[in-house]
Amino acid sequence: MDQRRAPYFEGLLKYINQGRTAFHMPGHNRGKGVHPLLKDFLGENVFLLDLTEVEGVDYLHKATGILKEAQDLLSDLYGSTESFFLINGSTGGNHAMIFSTVGDGEKIILGRNSHRSALGGLIVSGAVPVYVPVEVNSRIGVTTNLDPGKLEETIKNNTDAKAVFITTPNYYGMTGNVKLYADIAHKYNMPLLVDEAHGAHYGMHPELPETAVRQGADLVVQSAHKTLASMTQTSWIHYNDNGFIDLARLKMALQVLQSTSPNYVLLSSLDVARMQLATEGKIIYDRVLDVARYLRKTLNEIPGIFVIGKEVEETDPFVSVYDETKIVISFEGKWEYNKGRMYGYIAEKILNHEYNIEVELSDPHNVLAFITVGHYMDDAKVLVDAIKDMSKKYYKGEETRGVDYHILPHIPEVVLTPREAFFAKSEMVAFDENVIGRVCAEVVSLYPPGIPIVAPGERIDREIYEFIKERITQGAEVQGPIDPELNYIKVIK
Ligand SMILES: Cc1ncc(COP(=O)(O)O)c(C=O)c1O
Repeated sequence: MDQRRAPYFEGLLKYINQGRTAFHMPGHNRGKGVHPLLKDFLGENVFLLDLTEVEGVDYLHKATGILKEAQDLLSDLYGSTESFFLINGSTGGNHAMIFSTVGDGEKIILGRNSHRSALGGLIVSGAVPVYVPVEVNSRIGVTTNLDPGKLEETIKNNTDAKAVFITTPNYYGMTGNVKLYADIAHKYNMPLLVDEAHGAHYGMHPELPETAVRQGADLVVQSAHKTLASMTQTSWIHYNDNGFIDLARLKMALQVLQSTSPNYVLLSSLDVARMQLATEGKIIYDRVLDVARYLRKTLNEIPGIFVIGKEVEETDPFVSVYDETKIVISFEGKWEYNKGRMYGYIAEKILNHEYNIEVELSDPHNVLAFITVGHYMDDAKVLVDAIKDMSKKYYKGEETRGVDYHILPHIPEVVLTPREAFFAKSEMVAFDENVIGRVCAEVVSLYPPGIPIVAPGERIDREIYEFIKERITQGAEVQGPIDPELNYIKVIK
């Protein structure tokens, strides 16, 4: 197939050049109705491209023309049986993977490191979760991947489950052995669904990890927007015909869950991002890996800083491949800020406020910088200078203390399925000691990495309560609750 082409984008340009007089959606009518406040900044072209399903430009939910060609090229590049563009991120993709494979009251086996969008999938489908605990890397204090032994044990005890859902890589580039997970799931006749949101670039350079698509997974979701040059909200889903997935149901799920008015600017950005990867992937990732390797090496020379690298493939049994484009800056030893301990969360704020640098995320121990198709050596130098300066100001010398905080609490007791809890009668109560013992009616996840600490239908016990309180005090961001500050929490009546 001719990967140099971007058939969808090219087709839209052809249509635009016809200059038709329009009497249809969107209301801005090819930009003519847009206020100058926005148009002066964005320019005209973005509105010309913001079309609807007019003649010849194809339709996301019934792709037969230029959009089908674009999706076929995507499938060809990643080696799937079929691939589909998504306009509601990997959130929508995760919903579709679960909704199309596991029905109401049926079991799904999933890693506890699943992003909260997987919980959304459970609510939509009514599936009953059976969780596998996630392993941790205690050197840098983050959750990693599933222990294949524990996964198999859980499957053996639940052979009636309809699918296995795993998340790998984690945010930090630590990638599990997908081939092994797929073999285990298939041995028990279950499809393997992979949330590869952070691995859209996988397989696009010989020194990057291989994608789950080529390792036996049945469905794989990737957030193109996270690491590639497509626009926010864009993702794609890959389907492999290993005899486990009902493709018609997957297509129906995508129709149910996604807008009937997909944004053509977003879809075009996916088409062009695929073409860019296919034609320039090797050159781009030569540069990206150079930048990442320079950063890792230089940051590792700064007192008090450790940046994990490829060696983790040897030291951590649950990291089979490491993605070098993730720069996890660990603050080791004694770091002090305002006479208190400088958590990763505080380091992120310092980078923001003192150095004008915005990173992807922070946790108690680390700050994470993404190096993507859009990064160059001068970006790296800005970060190195800032961390050098921070080390001079805030690093107070070695200390034997390793990672001494709680990385993740245990999995709480599941009392109701997420869907049952979603529809149950509930009330808002103060988030204090009195919630201990109550069944939660909403998801509470702490960002990063967005893994649910307690999900709808799970009992809030003391450890869970104290963990959430402790993280909030350290500076973690809570996501999910109706009350964004979590002064109140929604519990079952
Ligand atoms: C592992 C994982 N899965 C899914 C998602 C949701 O992806 P999106 O933002 O593309 O909807 C995220 C978002 O951060 C994520 O980290």
